Amino acid sequence: MTDRIDRRSGKYHVVHMFSAMLLIASFSVPANAADANSQAKMQLGREVFTKLAAPNCGICHALKDAGTTGEIGAKLEELKPTASQVAEAVRKGVGAMPPFEGKLTEAQIQAVAYYVSQAARKGN
Ligand code: HEC
Repeated sequence: MTDRIDRRSGKYHVVHMFSAMLLIASFSVPANAADANSQAKMQLGREVFTKLAAPNCGICHALKDAGTTGEIGAKLEELKPTASQVAEAVRKGVGAMPPFEGKLTEAQIQAVAYYVSQAARKGN
């Protein structure tokens, strides 16, 4: 008797878990490779912005998403630069901003350019 109840509740759990997994799968499948790739780029870009660049971007630039308040360079939310504008500035430097070409890898430059262009549009 108790055996039968246990089995039934066990079966219920399996079915329940299976439908929960289907539900999760149906949401996560459209998160395709491109989305995963841009998420990874955003993450690396934020790291370059706040840590990996030396001196790091946040010392001179305010960007809400990165939690930085530097005042030597432009407030990036106000400038809203395109990714290629950021990449150009990072490679060659601008005025008091030093060039980072050779100090950051190409992948890091691409990531920080993408990140800044996206994050600057997100913050007001
Ligand atoms: C030592 C301070 C300093 C650091 C470090 C610095 N910048 Fe700048 N940045 C400036 C100054 C000064 C300017 C020129 C005036 C302005 O536009 O704010 C500038 C300009 C820019 C511009 C505008 C370029 C344009 O087309 O007008 C972008 C975008 C930018 N910086 C992004 C970055 C990123 C990303 C990093 C980190 C990899 C970085 N900066 C590091 C000081 C700095």
